[in-house]
Order: sequence, then C-alpha cells, then structure tokens
Amino acid sequence: MSAVAGKRIVLGVSGGIAAYKAVEVCRRLMDGGAHVLPVLTRGATRFVGRATFDALASEPVRMSLFDEDDPIPHTTLGQTADCVVVAPATARVIGAYAAGISSDLLTATLLATRAPVVICPAMHTEMWEHPAVAANVATLIQRGVHVVGPEAGLLAGGDEGLGRLSSPGDIVAALGRILAQAANPPSETPDMVGLSVVITAGGTREPMDPIRYIGNRSSGKQGHAFADEAASRGAEVTIVTTVGRSGPPGATVVRVDTAAEMAAATTAAAADADMVIMAAAVADFRPVDPVGVKLKKRDGVPDVELEPTPDILAALGASKPEGQILVGFAAETCDVAANATAKLSGKGADYIVANDVTAENAGFAGDTNEVVVLASDGRMLPIGLRSKRDVARAVLDLVLADRKRRDGRQDPSSGGQEHSRYVSNTVSQEIQ
Ligand code: C5P
Repeated sequence: MSAVAGKRIVLGVSGGIAAYKAVEVCRRLMDGGAHVLPVLTRGATRFVGRATFDALASEPVRMSLFDEDDPIPHTTLGQTADCVVVAPATARVIGAYAAGISSDLLTATLLATRAPVVICPAMHTEMWEHPAVAANVATLIQRGVHVVGPEAGLLAGGDEGLGRLSSPGDIVAALGRILAQAANPPSETPDMVGLSVVITAGGTREPMDPIRYIGNRSSGKQGHAFADEAASRGAEVTIVTTVGRSGPPGATVVRVDTAAEMAAATTAAAADADMVIMAAAVADFRPVDPVGVKLKKRDGVPDVELEPTPDILAALGASKPEGQILVGFAAETCDVAANATAKLSGKGADYIVANDVTAENAGFAGDTNEVVVLASDGRMLPIGLRSKRDVARAVLDLVLADRKRRDGRQDPSSGGQEHSRYVSNTVSQEIQ
C-alpha cells in the first residue's frame, strides 16, 4: 500500500511557471489513495487554472481566507492535515512562512499546522542563491520543515541552473518517506539495538603553552547529532568529545582535549565497537614540545616546532576488526570529492562524509549541513542541506541499509534482487 494512502494532504501551489507540475503531483497523490486538498495562491492561477485541480483533487480548490463556506479555513486545513506540501514554493511563500507572516490562505495554513510540512522550491538560480532566500530556507530547515529540491536543469526563459522544481515522482516519493517517518519517528525506530557505536566530536586543542593552543573551528554539533540519533535508535553510544556537552541519556561520554587523548580514548573504545564514526576535527599538527610556562611576548616570536599528530582514523582503518564499520569525515575547502576520495582509500574507511566547510549554511558552527557520502564501493551519495540531526539520520540510514544487505548476502536464504534495486536507487538520488 502506498505511504500516502488515506492521508489528508494539503497541496499548496504558489505562483511559478512550475505550477503546471503540481497538477501531476496532485494526480499521483490521488492515484496513491491520498485525500488531496488543493490551496492555490492568486499567483498560481496565472499559471494553471483552478478548474484543473477542482477536477482532479478530492475537494475543490480553496484560495481565500474569507470567501469559503468555512469561516476559518486555514485552521481547519492546518489542524486536520497529515501533511502540507507546497509545490512549487516561491521565494515569496518561503519568505512569508519563515517570517511568520500570513498573507493569504496558503501562508495562513502553513502557520496553522503542526503536521509535517514539505516545501519544494522552484525559482531562478539568482533568486535561490540570494542570501535572503538561503537564510529563510535554513530557518525553515532548523524548524523541522522538509525541503525537497530544487534541482539543476532547464529553467523558464531558456536559462539553465539550480532552481528547477523536483520531479512530481520525487516529490511524491519524498512525501511517502516523510509520512512514514512521522508515523514511526526515528526515536522509536530501534534499529540499532545491540550495536555499540563510538563517535568522536569537536576539535582537538594542541597546547603551545599552558594557555595557548592550536585548534580549529569545529563546534562538535555534527558529532553530537550522530550520538543523539544513534542513541535514539537504541545503540550503545560512547562519545569521545572535546566539547563540554552532555551526551544522550545512557551514553558514555569521554572528555578529551588533544589528539593524543582522543587517540587513546577512541582506540580503546573502538576495539569492541560495531561502528566508529570519526566526526571530530582532529588537529593534524601539534607543537613538539609545549612549554610549561606562558610564552612571553618580550621574548619575541616563539619558534614553535610542529610534528604530525597520530592519525586515529588511519590507525583504526589499518586494524579494523571483521565487520566493523568505519566512517570518516572530510572537511574540505576545495576539491571536495577528489580529496575525500583520496581519504577513503588512504585511511581504510568504509565511508567518508565530505563537506565543503566554506559553503553557506554548512560546516562547523551552524545547525545545518550539506554533505556527500562516499562509499568504498564507489558510490557517491549527496545529502542536501538539512539539520545536522537529519544529516546523521540519513547517513545512519544508508550505513545500516548497506549492513543489512551485506548480512543478507551472507545469509544464503536471501536473494540478491533487493540489493541491486537499492544500489541503483541510491546512486541516482539524493538521500532524503
Ligand atoms: O586527513 P584529515 O584530517 O582531513 O581527515 C579527516 C578524517 O580523519 C576525520 O574523520 C578525522 O576525524 C580523522 N582524523 C583522525 N586523526 C587525525 C586527523 C584526522 O582520525 N590526526
């Protein structure tokens, strides 16, 4: 049965050229057995007629806060919806929603619902990349709104670039996953029970003297998000962290400062672990001989000799026990894919989660991230901009699905078909 079957889905359509594709979204949702309630903005009707949705959807089009039979259509829609999807979502709708401004029935409904909301942006590349739009999208993601697309491709007026509405098939598939997830929230998905996971987080600090150190900008948020997600799925979590945050309930937290301390704690914990996730930004160099007293300015520029730190990930990769899954990270500022690919083989990891830390709304300090996962079998899987917790969820979903498949292959009673279907799906699609 389709995941959208029986669900009340508010289909918001705003005024962009891609509005015609919303007709196909509507039809697919109806085919899947959903109860579709179309809400059009005035702009949408410039591109597509309301009669089309009237004919296809479960209920007639609604457009106004005032002209409907229901005196409060937005609260009725918002309160009874299982999901609100906006396809296409224009910069105006995204901006109003992010700012909490209700300027029509669609934005009022978005503000009046507690159901999952999925926005599918579509606009010209310049608009999509405008800092105001990017900030509004990041705000919505932080609030738990799901964002599907946009994709790169042909745009209105013959232009090409990022900003094209995702295909109706991808939108409906994402909706299905989101509804399934809402019905079975990850914290209640105990698919990591019995697995012990070691996670490193934060940036190490390599002392020069008692008060100065060589450090980096890592906040530890991505590593802690992995710990929270793995624990909520039932894993036994050890987090080796440089930041003064508590771990999830039941987790073992080991506080460290330097690469050497992280190496010792991680190597000890990893010996019996089923999975090691090296999310920490470990310093690559450290002062050879930190002095015991504060370096004095009057003594001139200190001649600090540096030496490499132990490469924890590489050491774990070289001595990996059978079946252990090793996930490394690559924080890059350029040539992300090439550098990450080199790290994958050089460090003996099963996966490298790579990101461009200079990208907007991704990287060290913020609450969102955008990464590409490289798997040792050559797959390259992008995970688009989302909260760090959702990045952790998507990476763990992938790793666990691979593990299940691998275990299934070892079990002669299971067939190989599911495997090839999964691989071809994940290679070509962004992980939702
Ligand atoms: O080589 P680079 O530092 O870019 O590699 C990043 C990956 O390697 C991360 O997973 C990081 O945690 C790990 N690493 C490590 N020990 C080091 C340096 C990096 O485990 N000394």
